[in-house]
Amino acid sequence: ANKDFDLYQLPEDYTVIRQATREVCDAEVAPRATEADESAQFPQKSYEALRAADLHAPHIPEQYGGAGLDALGTAIVIEEIARACASSSLIPAVNKLGTMPIMLGGSEELKQKYLPKVAAGEAMFSYCLSEPEAGSDAGSMTTKAVRDGEEWVLNGVKRWITNAGTSDYYTVFAVTDPGKGSKGISAFVVEKNDQGVSFGAPEHKLGIKASPTREVYFDQVRIPADRLIGAEGEGFKLAMRTLDHTRVTIAAQALGIAQGALDYAAGYSTERQQFGKPISSFQGLQFKMADAAMNITAARQLTYAAAAKSERGDDDVTYFGATAKCFASDTAMQVTVEAVQILGGYGYTRDYPVERMMRDAKITQIYEGTNEVQRIVIARQLLGAIGE
Ligand code: CAA
Repeated sequence: ANKDFDLYQLPEDYTVIRQATREVCDAEVAPRATEADESAQFPQKSYEALRAADLHAPHIPEQYGGAGLDALGTAIVIEEIARACASSSLIPAVNKLGTMPIMLGGSEELKQKYLPKVAAGEAMFSYCLSEPEAGSDAGSMTTKAVRDGEEWVLNGVKRWITNAGTSDYYTVFAVTDPGKGSKGISAFVVEKNDQGVSFGAPEHKLGIKASPTREVYFDQVRIPADRLIGAEGEGFKLAMRTLDHTRVTIAAQALGIAQGALDYAAGYSTERQQFGKPISSFQGLQFKMADAAMNITAARQLTYAAAAKSERGDDDVTYFGATAKCFASDTAMQVTVEAVQILGGYGYTRDYPVERMMRDAKITQIYEGTNEVQRIVIARQLLGAIGE
């Protein structure tokens, strides 16, 4: 049972992208998803398969050697990979997150220097915003960058960094003018091999286990002045503008997880017999699957609309990115919990993929801004700055 209700009748290009991604994922990514989860190792073979098919960083423009997919095409790629293996979907998603500050605000030199390497699959790019004491309150970060002649010197700790240690490049947000709050934050490119960069032990997580999450430490890291992304003091805005676009990719990831779980549970329900009939013939289960399908359809509509906003750079991408991310991730959580329920005792075991999908879904409600933060962003868009 695998019904794609093609809401938009998207142009054929997108159908081709979806089909091509699905073929690679069916052959190379899905069969390795259980093992990747159990071993909690970076899915190197899946990465290689995605790289061979140019799906590892599809958002990078053609002028920098990339596949040049637009925001919707990139979302479809991430959705399809997540349908097979959520951990693997973080490869294109975090490459987009890490490079987006350069794409939005970086100099041509920075674009020429870094984007082609990511496009070629020679390097991955991570995003370092959160810190041990600065999560939702990102503006309260304490990592510092101090100018010293033609260099900047960075000191501090970043936490929850996806693909840390595996990525070669890092966008790092740091305080450059401590008196100025969010206007005193700037963004930099730091390389893994810069002296003074090191990594914490991998976090032991509930889900997305094959996607490495580690701390990143900066101890007197000296970088050339031209690694500043955009203007000094513009880092916080760049961080927020980046998230406006990449919350769409998290929505796509959540959507893919939800679709994968519904596909599996629906297929199972037509085979599993109880009381002399397939369990899909019982209305109690039909209603669960109908609700799941309905919410997935709505999440897809919102996600694709947000992708179109992201591509056009519309002002309301802030609103649409937050709504899509929040709605799709809540949907992924509900759908995966029900998928486990539909499989009953089998669903609760590691012999079936739905418990992994349920564990993987949970993070989509937390990262790139908790869903509580999304609701703050949505309310501010709705009501204006509250209290002013
Ligand atoms: N676009 C442009 N500018 C923006 C913006 C946006 N979307 N959002 C805020 N700004 C600007 C504001 O206009 C303001 O500038 P002015 O003073 O010039 O008006 C400035 O940034 C500060 O904004 P706020 O006053 O709204 O900031 P705040 O401190 O109240 O924080 C927040 C707002 C929405 C809560 C923000 O801190 C936030 O999004 N927090 C969540 C952080 C987050 O998503 N972290 C995810 C980390 S990445 C990750 O998870 C990936 C991984 O690898 C695991």
